[in-house]
Amino acid sequence: MSVLSEKAAVVTGAGRGIGKGHAIQLAKAGASVVVNDVDADMAQSVVDEIVGFAGKAIANTDSVAEKSGADAIVAACQDSFGKIDIMMANAGIVRDRTFLKMSEEEFDAVINVHVKGTFLCHQAAALAMKESGGGGVLLSTVSAAHFGNFGQVNYAGAKGAIASMTYTLALELARYGIRVNAISPSGTTRMSDTYIGPDGKKHPMPFIDPELNGPMLVYLCSDEGNYISGQIFGTGGERISILNQPSYGHTLLMPGGWSIEEIQKNFKSNLGNRLQPIGITKPPYPFYEGIRPPESK
Ligand SMILES: NC(=O)c1ccc[n+]([C@@H]2O[C@H](COP(=O)([O-])OP(=O)(O)OC[C@H]3O[C@@H](n4cnc5c(N)ncnc54)[C@H](O)[C@@H]3O)[C@@H](O)[C@H]2O)c1
Repeated sequence: MSVLSEKAAVVTGAGRGIGKGHAIQLAKAGASVVVNDVDADMAQSVVDEIVGFAGKAIANTDSVAEKSGADAIVAACQDSFGKIDIMMANAGIVRDRTFLKMSEEEFDAVINVHVKGTFLCHQAAALAMKESGGGGVLLSTVSAAHFGNFGQVNYAGAKGAIASMTYTLALELARYGIRVNAISPSGTTRMSDTYIGPDGKKHPMPFIDPELNGPMLVYLCSDEGNYISGQIFGTGGERISILNQPSYGHTLLMPGGWSIEEIQKNFKSNLGNRLQPIGITKPPYPFYEGIRPPESK
């Protein structure tokens, strides 16, 4: 018996790229899959591929960024497969621009698809899971961009929000038997092809098959993974890694509370010398020499 037989799953944004890989891997593991994507042709082509290897899938073209869309996506799964066991919120877009040039529209578009889309799809799925007696798996999609990434304040902020939502939903939904995890995937896709470095240039990247994220997803959805919740895993290529969760580090205590004079006396030598690296590649902290306005011209 396949590890996910009898399970009904939704993958949003599954018409191409990483979501397509998830849908194929879930279907190969025996799940019935709703292939959601606003791009109808791409969604249908993934359904055709799954049906081609005798898997079960239907297409859905609602947008995750609208409540009516998220509700319709979950309803499509219930109508076609009788229930929903797995919601993988994967749909995503980028609108990269440096902070001072980014428009409100570019900010809102990214927040709506990623943050609001994850909230709406997970809420609709969790309500359906609760109503049918509980039990289920919610999965979200973050990115290492949430460590900080040049030109992606909208996307990095969205992915950071989704990471925090993952921890919170895991705490809230365990009582209904629903576990909540996220992956930080990698793969060569339409989205990864848009990546431009801080130098404003495109850098050649090795090809990574986007389908290689899928097996870890299957494990997280399987009954064997029922002890895992509130976790984020780096996946894709040859890796599976666990993301260190944010927590307070070295701490200074001052009986009665800190005065500015005590901070001036103690901070630099005790915490100021431990400033944390920023960004995906974690280079040594870059600003010890101070940050000043550019020389006046
Ligand atoms: N490619 C990577 O290396 C990488 C790295 C980290 C995180 N991610 C994340 O993985 C996910 C998938 O990325 P990808 O690289 O496959 O991107 P992609 O652009 O190849 O695919 C994203 C899909 O989402 C669909 N979509 C967009 N808005 C939608 C909406 N409102 N409703 C439904 N579908 C919608 C698109 O039509 C597209 O088919 C995203 O959440 C992305 O942020 C990707």
